[in-house]
Amino acid sequence: LKLEALSQIKNASTKKELQEVRISYLGKKGPITEVLRGMGKLSAEERPLIGQVVNVVRDTIKEEIEQKEQKLEELEVEAKLASESIDVTLPGRPIQIGAKHPLTAVIEEVEDAFIGLGFSVAQGPEVEIDYYNFEALNLPKNHPARDMQDSFYFTEELLLRTQTSPVQARTMEQHQGKGPVKIICPGKVFRRDDDDATHSHQFMQIEGLFVDENVRMSDLKGVLDAFVKQFFGADREIRLRPSFFPFTEPSVEVDVSCGICKGQGCRICKHTGWIEVLGAGMVHPRVLEMSGFDSSKYSGFAFGMGVERLAMLKHDIDDIRHFYTNDMRFLAQFKRV
Ligand code: PHE
Repeated sequence: LKLEALSQIKNASTKKELQEVRISYLGKKGPITEVLRGMGKLSAEERPLIGQVVNVVRDTIKEEIEQKEQKLEELEVEAKLASESIDVTLPGRPIQIGAKHPLTAVIEEVEDAFIGLGFSVAQGPEVEIDYYNFEALNLPKNHPARDMQDSFYFTEELLLRTQTSPVQARTMEQHQGKGPVKIICPGKVFRRDDDDATHSHQFMQIEGLFVDENVRMSDLKGVLDAFVKQFFGADREIRLRPSFFPFTEPSVEVDVSCGICKGQGCRICKHTGWIEVLGAGMVHPRVLEMSGFDSSKYSGFAFGMGVERLAMLKHDIDDIRHFYTNDMRFLAQFKRV
């Protein structure tokens, strides 16, 4: 009986099996209990002998079960630890990372280029007062050039800025007549246009302003040439054409040579070999004076470019609305930009 019990204990591989063995040998209906119950029928001499044997057998079985129980418990803990262990040599699970929005990427690239040229980054409000958006830029009330920029007005004096140029006036005011002022300003602007492939009622511009003693048109040309070569490529050229802005005199429209056809003429440059990228000019003396600068001592240049336009040219994007509809198929293409 003892040997049989011990072999069953040895073979039990779970706590449940062990519990069954315990019940079958030591339980109320087990053989040991049965023998003890029958003791009364034994003679007085037999009783202590049998009793001792039975006790020894019972204690041995009990002990063995306890030992086995402990062992099983240890194994269980080990198994649990093994199942919870981390294999640090396995490759990590890839984390889904997003892409920078193409407009953000372009702004950062332009900022980097101009910071490299000694400019710092300024900001101004999107809700602007008429004075900074127009009047301080030499666009008095009822000036016909205001028609170039249909505006969203809140009141007669308050509107969504139509350009980043008001930041020119604000920044010059802050400098209280002392140069140099050397800033760029990226930001949202708003115009009452109907949206289509090339128009958006909200878009972005990057303004540039450099005011100091003896700033000349050739400085403007040099800075823009350096920027265009960094942004579009070292083989690109710029060309200035006369234009008009009320706050610059002279004013120019700046073209960059077409990177696709290298001047041969193609769809992108409408067969001219040149692509218009920005407006610029020498800050109008009246604008300098209105913002507190002595125009006999100081001169400056300013420029403004459309961020969407830069991004469309750089990535050959044919519809400005792609930037604002957040189609993941469009945005995911910029993961490595
Ligand atoms: N603000 C002008 C526009 O929106 C661009 C510009 C900026 C032109 C600075 C000249 C100088 O069209």
